[in-house]
Amino acid sequence: MSTTNDTTAVPTSARIAQRRRYLMCRPEYFTVSYRINPWMEPTKPTDTAKAVRQWQELYDAYVSLGHEVELIDPVPGLPDMVYTANGGFIVDGRALGVKFRVPERSGEERPFMDWFAANGFDVVEPVEVQEGEGDFLLVGDTILAGTGFRSVGDSHRELAEVFDREVLSLRLIDPRFYHLDTAITVLDPVEGPGGVERANIAYLPTAFDAASRTILAERYPDAIEVSDEDGAVFGLNAASDGKHVFISPRATGFAAQLAERGYTPVPVDLSELLLGGGGIKCCTLELRGGRR
Ligand code: ARG
Repeated sequence: MSTTNDTTAVPTSARIAQRRRYLMCRPEYFTVSYRINPWMEPTKPTDTAKAVRQWQELYDAYVSLGHEVELIDPVPGLPDMVYTANGGFIVDGRALGVKFRVPERSGEERPFMDWFAANGFDVVEPVEVQEGEGDFLLVGDTILAGTGFRSVGDSHRELAEVFDREVLSLRLIDPRFYHLDTAITVLDPVEGPGGVERANIAYLPTAFDAASRTILAERYPDAIEVSDEDGAVFGLNAASDGKHVFISPRATGFAAQLAERGYTPVPVDLSELLLGGGGIKCCTLELRGGRR
């Protein structure tokens, strides 16, 4: 499926890169020793050195394009800590911690909350089960919140209370796309000189139930609809600064759709980290606001 939406709404020259601040975790202890999503095969060997090299390419790509990257120390025995998107959700200097659905990752909750506190964020300890920016995406002033596999529906109400923003709940239905950030990419700047500006997304329609697809179509009529082929190579698990979109090199159709609309795809191959069921966005947690 390819998009039929209007691609002329924003001239390509209008794409403006915004400086982002991200939290990443070097995958020094990365391996696949358990199976908590369909991508993980504990019997298949992993190559930690390769994971670190590929991760370094993503880090270097962010830094070379002017973004600031903070690091949290990896903890031995927590092989999934590289997927920092699941460490919290941060807006306006307030960091909501996470409460993992999967017991294998609960050891990460405290280190992430400690890092937020030590780095000047106001930490809110969560009550409900949710997995942070893996399932919560800020689009303009609205938070899109996923449920179905990991974060529970009640966490969406808690999210709205903590951040005092509109929350749109979306239901994921395909186990390969178990976190919202595997099925939606936030493309545009969140804020500009005039406040919140355009906010657009790309998404994988087949990852959602019918009611969620209706919400997405109504709210984001200009969205890029991505094909199942590009979804299946984790193409949507991408990060954007409003101009550059860091994506899997395998998502060639999505890259072409982005280029048509004036974005600059920046391919970064995280094939080794995909063995754990994660990609570019999973390895990236956005830090919004907070003391420097
Ligand atoms: N193995 C990890 C898990 O299943 C991968 C997390 C991917 N993170 C993400 N934000 N989609 O929890």
